[in-house]
Amino acid sequence: MSTASKPADPDDGAAGLEQLVCCDDFHEAAKARLAPMVYDYYRSGALREWTLAENERAWNRWVFCRRSLVGVADIDLSTTVLGQRLSLPVLVAPTAFHRLADPAGEVATARAAAAIGTTMVASTLATVRLEDIAATGVPRWFQLYVFADRGLTRELVHRAVAAGYTALVPTIDTPTVGIRYADQRNRFVLPPGLEMANVIHALDPELAESGSALRAFSEQFDQSLTWRDIEWLAGLSELPIVPKGVTHPDDARAALAVGAAGVIVSNHGGRQLDGEPGTADVLPEVVDVVGDAGVVLVDGGIRSGTDVVKARALGAAAVLVGRPVLWALAAGGQAGVERMFTLLRDEVADTLRQLGVPRLDDVGPGTVRRAGSSSS
Ligand code: FNR
Ligand code: LAC
Repeated sequence: MSTASKPADPDDGAAGLEQLVCCDDFHEAAKARLAPMVYDYYRSGALREWTLAENERAWNRWVFCRRSLVGVADIDLSTTVLGQRLSLPVLVAPTAFHRLADPAGEVATARAAAAIGTTMVASTLATVRLEDIAATGVPRWFQLYVFADRGLTRELVHRAVAAGYTALVPTIDTPTVGIRYADQRNRFVLPPGLEMANVIHALDPELAESGSALRAFSEQFDQSLTWRDIEWLAGLSELPIVPKGVTHPDDARAALAVGAAGVIVSNHGGRQLDGEPGTADVLPEVVDVVGDAGVVLVDGGIRSGTDVVKARALGAAAVLVGRPVLWALAAGGQAGVERMFTLLRDEVADTLRQLGVPRLDDVGPGTVRRAGSSSS
């Protein structure tokens, strides 16, 4: 059985993509295309996957307070995050191993994000070098896994600065990669020919080679990490720091205390601690703590334009999407990712129009309420 995706058929590209009209369609198309081991790795969550499912359910527990006849001829959904103007409030979440989905991997994703006009958060565990992502010109932040080998972390930060990344995103919810049953059954490994291009030169060759499962590999992450190390990280460059994986208000406070420019509310797409709440449920508490002191972003289970607008209503400046990007990349490479973002942008615009709030900046606390609660 081949472990990589089936080669893209140039003939079924554009025509096939037109049939895909929402994030869920891209999921189905990717499932049909990807080798089972790859599909399972992308899809799965930790343990019994309660949090994975809860992320999507949690957005559904918020409902809109629609207003009529306010004049919705002109819709404006541009937004600014850390000084970067985005064409829609949706960034590319950092996800590992894009070459499992498409031969051009992260470079295809980056070109799509650049064409759409949004920011890509590139993963430490990309299958192309961070410099090759930068060469596409995409607006870019760099996600950091801190390895026990601090020299490697220093090197990654310096390379990210040199390659024009404009923010650092240390992931704080992953002491080691979580237990995912499907990956264990499949003995998930990177197939021959693919490598962790940013870090392979510095790691234990045996663990870095394809023979080692991802979870065992991740034991090289620094498990002694504390907020003091994030402070150390902040001191390595001038780049703003945006820790990813905050679900507790006290962690938001800790992030601000070490000088973070903001936080990403995330439970890693339900892939780490099973049993955590959906991110829509913790977002308001984190927003309360951060206030005007930084930017709050959120990810997890965002699958439509309505989810994006709900996240804005609950105080997030923007959202990130993880799996939808991977499904789109598998379904149609760069063109697939562009189409997925275009559809999301159309859905966000349509939601604002239907809702009676033409400007994204005017979406606020009055835009949503808890399902079942009174509107007055
Ligand atoms: C991830 N995520 C992730 N996060 C991170 O900080 N570094 C990484 O390398 C990865 N890798 C990764 C691989 C895959 C296959 C997935 C699905 C996720 C987590 C990611 O950034 C994001 O938090 C979630 O994917 C958001 O949830 P949705 O949009 O996938 O529901
Ligand atoms: C994952 C890691 C690599 O979620 O972040 O698979």
